Amino acid sequence: MVDHPLPTAPLTAAVIGTGGISQEHLSFLAGRTAFGSVTDRVRLAAVCDLSPAAARYAADTFGAPGCYTDVGRLLAEVQPDVVHVLTPPSSHVPIATQCLEAGAHVLCEKPVTACRPELEALLAVAHRSGRRLMESQNYRFNTAITTIGAAIEAGQLGRVREVEVRIALPVTDPGGRFGDPNLPSPIHAMPAGVIHDFTTHLTSLLLDLAPGVTWDRVAAAWSRHGDNELFRHDDLDALLVGAGPDGAVHARLRFDARTFPDVFTVIVRGSGGTAETDLFQPYLRIVRPRPGGSKLSPIVNHVVNGFGMARSGVRNLGQRLVQQGQYEGLHRMLDLAYTALVQGAELPVTEADMLAASGLVDQLLSREVAL
Ligand SMILES: NC(=O)c1ccc[n+]([C@@H]2O[C@H](COP(=O)([O-])OP(=O)(O)OC[C@H]3O[C@@H](n4cnc5c(N)ncnc54)[C@H](O)[C@@H]3O)[C@@H](O)[C@H]2O)c1
Repeated sequence: MVDHPLPTAPLTAAVIGTGGISQEHLSFLAGRTAFGSVTDRVRLAAVCDLSPAAARYAADTFGAPGCYTDVGRLLAEVQPDVVHVLTPPSSHVPIATQCLEAGAHVLCEKPVTACRPELEALLAVAHRSGRRLMESQNYRFNTAITTIGAAIEAGQLGRVREVEVRIALPVTDPGGRFGDPNLPSPIHAMPAGVIHDFTTHLTSLLLDLAPGVTWDRVAAAWSRHGDNELFRHDDLDALLVGAGPDGAVHARLRFDARTFPDVFTVIVRGSGGTAETDLFQPYLRIVRPRPGGSKLSPIVNHVVNGFGMARSGVRNLGQRLVQQGQYEGLHRMLDLAYTALVQGAELPVTEADMLAASGLVDQLLSREVAL
């Protein structure tokens, strides 16, 4: 293993892949973040995309001095401390390997690899190179999720008995980025097709909200209900039963393309209360015993949560107006990651987190059942 001294801040960062999600990473690196200045820890040095126009646009918009279309040239000329790998999933392993071997830490979009054995191999490259590899498990860092996590930790929900994570998105729509038959997304090549691209979010949230649970009973129904033949599957319905420190925990992981409205709901049901949010339109609804005993408690819950919903509506409108949204957790995760890299501390998404999330995706893929 190569031994590297602690870096001197600020670190230099490069972004490879300047498509959709790069807007969030680049706005963070350019200091346009709710967490204030990041220039003490990181400086955007270069961007790279196969498309020269996309790379140039990103460099101009976010003030990157370097602009490349070739990863090798970028690494040789810029020698960045950190590379954000934001390309389609099938390219993550070769690009991340190249970056790690060139001596850069890698912050990679999810899913880093298509399966856990590939992730183990890539982590071995990181270890050999003495560099760090971190996957975006960004929704774990959204305020609603950290608030639910704190409520669980404080015992406000009692013992966690059930977790449900549900994404509903009309991905098969031919007008959308995944459903376009004339320009098929490279994500269709993933083992579970387009839904595979979302599975890290489902599994990482479940593992985050039900820590210490061994998910030994897993059944997953992968279906195609629509007629868009680009899609291997457009629906995932998975049931999991696990053994945790406080007894059995049930979970449901769901991806669906046919219902309204678009949601990303997370519900945690415990022996002492239930918490619920939608990460697309954040709100927090917590139902638990309230003052007034069993007769008044449901009414107090309605009133408290009703005011909470109204406040969320106003807040969400405000965030829409300033174009902030579901990616606040991604900014928080990057903020924590750069602080950790500068201090040589543990990254906010650990290798164990990555291996567990990827391993659970493998289980979903291998435990297919006909329902
Ligand atoms: N964490 C999240 O919430 C979240 C949200 C959206 C996307 N993502 C992930 O981010 C990754 C990228 O998604 P996207 O929506 O931005 O995709 P995109 O198609 O919009 O952008 C990908 C970019 O990478 C470029 N590219 C492809 N191969 C390249 C190469 N070899 N070298 C340089 N550039 C290359 C493409 O030209 C394109 O501009 C995927 O892994 C996706 O799953 C994560």
